[in-house]
Formats: sequence, structure tokens, C-alpha cells
Amino acid sequence: MNALFDLVVRNARVATASDCFDADIGIVGGRITQLGKQLPAGQREIDALGRVVTPGGVDAHCHLDEITSGPVRMADDFDTGSRAAACGGTTTMIPFAAQLRGHSLAEAVNAYRARAAHKAHVDYAFHLIVTDPTPDVLSHELPALIAEGFTSFKIYMTYDDMKLGDGQILDVLSVARQHGALAMLHAENADCIQWLTRRLLDAGQTAPRFHAQSRPMLVEREATHRAIALAELVDTPILIVHVSGREAIEQIRWARALGLKVFAETCPQYLFLTAEDLGLDDSYHGARCVCSPPPRDRANQEVVWNGLADGLFSVFSSDHAPFRMDGMQGKRPEGCEVSFDHIPNGIPGIETRMPLLYSEGVLKGRITLERFVELTATGPAKAYGLHPRKGTIAIGSDADLVIWQEGERVLRNADLHHNVDYTPYEGKTLHAWPALTLSRGEVIWDGQFHARPGHGQLLACGRPSLLPAAQARCP
Ligand code: URP
Ligand code: ZN
Ligand code: ZN
Repeated sequence: MNALFDLVVRNARVATASDCFDADIGIVGGRITQLGKQLPAGQREIDALGRVVTPGGVDAHCHLDEITSGPVRMADDFDTGSRAAACGGTTTMIPFAAQLRGHSLAEAVNAYRARAAHKAHVDYAFHLIVTDPTPDVLSHELPALIAEGFTSFKIYMTYDDMKLGDGQILDVLSVARQHGALAMLHAENADCIQWLTRRLLDAGQTAPRFHAQSRPMLVEREATHRAIALAELVDTPILIVHVSGREAIEQIRWARALGLKVFAETCPQYLFLTAEDLGLDDSYHGARCVCSPPPRDRANQEVVWNGLADGLFSVFSSDHAPFRMDGMQGKRPEGCEVSFDHIPNGIPGIETRMPLLYSEGVLKGRITLERFVELTATGPAKAYGLHPRKGTIAIGSDADLVIWQEGERVLRNADLHHNVDYTPYEGKTLHAWPALTLSRGEVIWDGQFHARPGHGQLLACGRPSLLPAAQARCP
């Protein structure tokens, strides 16, 4: 007789964003078809006795194989990036198809599709990055891409080759409102950063640690407030990405208290690193932790933890931005130590995002297991229109699952699967790690990585469910 299920994950301690319960998980054709006790035998069985099983993670902010300028190249493409994701419990990734100024957005999406095809081991969707909102982009390309399932886009308020002015931001937010998309804002004041950078460089202060001084919290606070005001003017929800600490959080709380739909994301670097990791002296070692906004201090880490616990944040992402320390294409462009303003921004973290939050958040009692699931899977899936296919354990959802193993393990870059030659968390003790990852019912990680290039599919995103059901036309 044929088995009812392709696979049964038996005796699971199932964790969702709303509750935890004991169940067997029955899987057919890559989807969950039954949850219950003592399900009939499957063709294949995995015993999860005593183990927590969460939905596979949704990493809604990571950078893979993006076009970069000059000699700099990202170290991870869709192969190595999704390999690392899978081994760290992430089964859906949302990297960025970035428009180059003077080029079309549709062109960026097509090129990015080609770079991903046949490589990814886990499913993925794309955010767009809008750097050149021409009349054609605003009235044709963006609406067409939103209709095709690219329903979120990032707007930069800083970086010379990417930033938009306030008027351009209003234009893009208006399109988001009219067509039911979600805008993500990188909130830092570009002019203040430029002014501070000039002064630091003029004073000969070029080492990596001065990166943090060139982007103090004030520049993030001001831009966060401005982003909120611009969104209020257009009357559309926004999501502020990589929020680093107290002053930006205060702005978001203020907006929420007014009833504005302002959502927020934070990342591991704002919980586990401080500005001191950029260096206490002028050594170049700190280049590995150069990212924007920069990590702050311990007091700010606590404020971020509070925001994770009390629901301020909807999304916890890695902001994986893979640049190697060695070689010619990473943190030392052309092999040279450069001044802080020329160090490629970003740090790796796609594989460590979930185990770090589980270890330091759930197992140290800072957040509940349900909240962990919400932040790492359900929240991002909802925010970007992938729920309930992704981000939960429910009948009808994709069988993307992580079986967790508790126990001590020291984090070593040598054990990770990305193509970056360091982790900023080297030597940190983890207390939990994914023992097994399933992507649409297939085991892709069980202590060994089971490569499935091309198994990962490009997902069309629906309407972000943080948005109101229908939005009237722009004022
Ligand atoms: O420093 C960072 N975060 N680099 C990645 C690009 C971005 O702004 O997210
Ligand atoms: Zn950013
Ligand atoms: Zn980023």
C-alpha cells in the first residue's frame, strides 16, 4: 500500500509565531498536508523527539552577487549564499535587484534573474533598489514589476551612487501607495555624513574606526524622522531597515503612537557588535565590521533587544553583505588598505542570523520562542507578501522546516559555508544550531550540506500584509 505521506517529521515540538505544540508533521509534494498526533507512516520518517521545530527562516535583507563599482565584488553568489543560508536554517532569501543610474529597473531584474537561475539551493524573491526614478520608471516599470510580484523596494537616503532626494522619495512612495507595494528605507543623512567625513579625512583620521564617527546616531535619527514625515505626507506605510539603536527607535515609537504605519527591521550586528569592533586603534582589522549604520554601544544593544521583545520590530534580517578581507575585491580594494569612506560597507551573517538569535534571545530568556519565529520567519514573510506559503508551519504551507539542536558550539568561520574569509562572531559560543533543514520537503542540511543547485525557485510576492487592505489614490 502507498504511504499517505512522502515524509513525516515525527514527535516535533512545533513552534509558530502564535504558539508551541507537540505534533507530527505530514508532508506531501513539498507541502505540509497534516499536523497531528500519531500520523500514519510516511515513505520517509525523521524523528524530532525532544527537538524544537520552527519554520525555515526568511532572510528578508541580504546582498548576493549585486553589481558593485570599481574592483570590488561580493564574495557570495546565489550558490554559496543560499548554501550558507540553508546551513543556518534560512529557506527563503530576499536579496536586491539594484537599478544602476541611467539604466532601466526591468533590465536590473532580468539580469539578476539570470544570475540566480540554476544556482540557488533555497527559494528566493527579489526586492528592487530604485536609484533612478525617471518618469518611465515611475509610471511604467515599477507598476509592471509590482504586478509581476516584485512588491517591495529599497530607497537609499545615503551613498552617492544610490541616494534619492526627498522629492524623488515622495515620488517613489506615491507609486508604492498606488500599487500596493512596500518601501524600505535606508535612513541616514547623506549631507551630514559627507561633511563629517571631510572633516575627519582633513584631520588625517582615516582608520576604519572613524567610519562610526562619520555616521553618528544623530544622522540616523534625523533621516528616520524625515522618512516618517515623507511617508506621512504620502499616507503610505514604510519599513525602516537596519535600525541600530535608541534614537531611531524613539522616532519609530513616536510615529507608531501617532498611529502611523511605520515598521522596522534590525540585524545581528546591532545586538552583538559595538563601535569598538571597528577598532580601538588605527589597525585595519576593524574593516571587517564596517557597515552602515555602524554598530553602536552596549546601552543601544539593550534598547534594540527591548524592541525585539516588545514587538517594535517586525523583521530580523542578516543584512549579509559579503566582502572578503583578503584578496583584491573585498575590504582591501585592489589589495590596499583604504580610508574608512572607501571600505566596502557590510558584514556577513546569513548563516549565523538564526542561531545567534536563538542562542542569545530565546535560550537566554530575552525573547520567547514564538517571538523568535515571528521575527525570523513569519514577520518577514508577511511583510513581503510570502505568507502563508512561507514563514509558518501550517497545512498548505511549504514544508520549509528547521529542527534545532541545543548544546554548546563555538562559532568558527572555518565551519561556515559562505565564501567570506571571516565572521565577525568568531569564537562566540552558540547554544543552539540547526541540526536539519528541509526546503519544500527535501533535506538540504543535516550536518552535511546536500547541494541542490536550481532547487531554489524565484517566488512572486503578493501584497505585503502589513499594508492596509486597500489604499485609495494618492492625495
Ligand atoms: O553596510 C551595509 N549595511 N551594507 C549593505 C548595504 C546596505 O545599506 O544595506
Ligand atoms: Zn541599507
Ligand atoms: Zn543591506
